[in-house]
Amino acid sequence: MILGIETSCDETAAALLADGTILSNVIASQVDLHARFGGIVPEIAARKHVEAIGYVIKEALDSAGKRLADLEAIAVTSKYGLVGCLLVGVAAAKSLAYTLKVPLTGIHHIEGHIFANIVSNPGMPMPHVCLTVSGGHTMLVYVKDLCQYEVLGSTLDDAAGEAFDKVAKFLGLGFPGGPVIDKLSAQGDRAAFNFPRPLWRSKATDFSFSGLKTAVVNMFKGEERSTLPIPDIAASFQEAVVDHLVSKTLQAAERKGVSAIGITGGVAMNSRLRDAFSEMVPRQRYKVFFTRPDLCSDNAAMVAAAGSARLRFGHVDGLDLNAVPSAPLESAL
Ligand code: KG4
Ligand code: ZN
Repeated sequence: MILGIETSCDETAAALLADGTILSNVIASQVDLHARFGGIVPEIAARKHVEAIGYVIKEALDSAGKRLADLEAIAVTSKYGLVGCLLVGVAAAKSLAYTLKVPLTGIHHIEGHIFANIVSNPGMPMPHVCLTVSGGHTMLVYVKDLCQYEVLGSTLDDAAGEAFDKVAKFLGLGFPGGPVIDKLSAQGDRAAFNFPRPLWRSKATDFSFSGLKTAVVNMFKGEERSTLPIPDIAASFQEAVVDHLVSKTLQAAERKGVSAIGITGGVAMNSRLRDAFSEMVPRQRYKVFFTRPDLCSDNAAMVAAAGSARLRFGHVDGLDLNAVPSAPLESAL
């Protein structure tokens, strides 16, 4: 029975996992708090985690009908995220591990997202290429086997979700922008505007979204917002993002010779991304596995799952475990 804790960004989350089964998955989202600022304010997020973490852990135990004494291990996101936010989860996890005398393991946030996909799809083929795409990161990882990784590419500037959020802000659509753009796009023409496809000539399996965002802004800068064809802009922008994500993922899958592709992270909820993968990927060549919608965004069930795999490799951290805001994704030895 492992407790997972996740506080790397704006979700305070705790989950219980036993023998691969999720017993509880509690997420306290701060999204409404940050909406009025049009983005996440790190200090506000960290302070909110301090307030929420105790209740969220209690709720994860109560809703699973378990007590602290039932816990056999603690996993926490300690790498990759906002440092003040990570520190809250790490401090809570260390206190629990020390008091309960159970092993503690620190997890890389991206490894958590990769495990959200593995938990969502029992029997997920190994090796596979995993696209992790969200507000804070966009990365392609070759998952050779459990906890064995090779990073194939990542974003050179903004993350995909960040681009959705910034374009939505420019169009006056609120925060977070991804879900609104997704919804509005259904009424728009995705061929209305031809926005650039970043790095399309390059063989590199990296991403870039900042130029695409600027292209949208430059095309409509200074125009009266009420006169803009918002659904068409949203649909065309979304199409460019999706095209970029799908083509680079296919390039990576081809390079590694895998037959399975996993998609995970907040942007993996995008309906056009899901359809495009089904349409653009040759079915006889690749099988595409999407993460369960409730595990796409940041959550702690994915951290517990990654932690339980890491512990099987003997990855136990001491009470000196610290928060590392940007750390490479490392394989277990
Ligand atoms: O995984 P997540 O909850 O947090 C991070 O680790 O960043 O992802 C949040 C991001 C936001 O940028 C949000 O706009 C985006 O995921 N997002 C979407 C959709 N739902 C959430 N982007 C596009 N389409 C969606 N349906
Ligand atoms: Zn994330």
